[in-house]
Amino acid sequence: MRKITIAIDGHSSTGKSTVAKQLADYLGYIFVDSGAMYRAVTLFALRKGIISESHFDKEKLIDSLAEIQLTFKKNKEEKAEMYLNDENVEKQIRTLEVSEFVSPIATVSEVRKKLVEQQQEMGKEGGIVMDGRDIGSVVFPNAELKIFMTASPQVRAERRYKELLERGDTISFEEVLENVTERDQIDSNRRDSPLKIAEGAIVIDNSETNQEDQFHMLLQLAKDRI
Ligand code: C5P
Repeated sequence: MRKITIAIDGHSSTGKSTVAKQLADYLGYIFVDSGAMYRAVTLFALRKGIISESHFDKEKLIDSLAEIQLTFKKNKEEKAEMYLNDENVEKQIRTLEVSEFVSPIATVSEVRKKLVEQQQEMGKEGGIVMDGRDIGSVVFPNAELKIFMTASPQVRAERRYKELLERGDTISFEEVLENVTERDQIDSNRRDSPLKIAEGAIVIDNSETNQEDQFHMLLQLAKDRI
């Protein structure tokens, strides 16, 4: 059976990673959450004082890129976790602080170039499900299946808010809603690789779809192409 490439893009907090992982597990494919890579670069920049509320030293970030090594390693439950220079940062990259700075970091072309090269290398044999913002448009423009996921900002913020509360974060719903909409705004309007519906992508609005139905729908779309 041939191994296809599945690209899942879309707005923030639409459940892209969840369904991408489900599909990859079912099909025995590699799963890559490309957003985790941008988040890890952001964590690095925050720790080095390269970005803060008051400044963003792009040149320093570009000069530091060679010092950033990103890898995914599976934990005991077979879930891929993000490592930044051999440190497991899976938890640290999911905070609201990282979410607040990740979109400006992701506008930097040199950052994108480095990450896109690594993502293409991971997918060069096919048999991969990758989710992000530019997967169907830039990383794998020839992917056999391209999906663009969206949902209303309110629904997306509610999902994200619940997730963050479950992790024990103390934040308000308004902060989460603001972050979700602000990230979409920056991601969709940046010059390099903006978030857009890739050519040939199937658009799914999952505001009112349950996860299980969505998974089966995407699985069928994948099977039709294998
Ligand atoms: O997918 P996630 O919400 O974790 O992504 C975090 C951020 O990383 C996005 O808001 C976007 O700014 C950036 N990103 C990107 N290109 C990708 C994946 C993520 O620019 N392929």
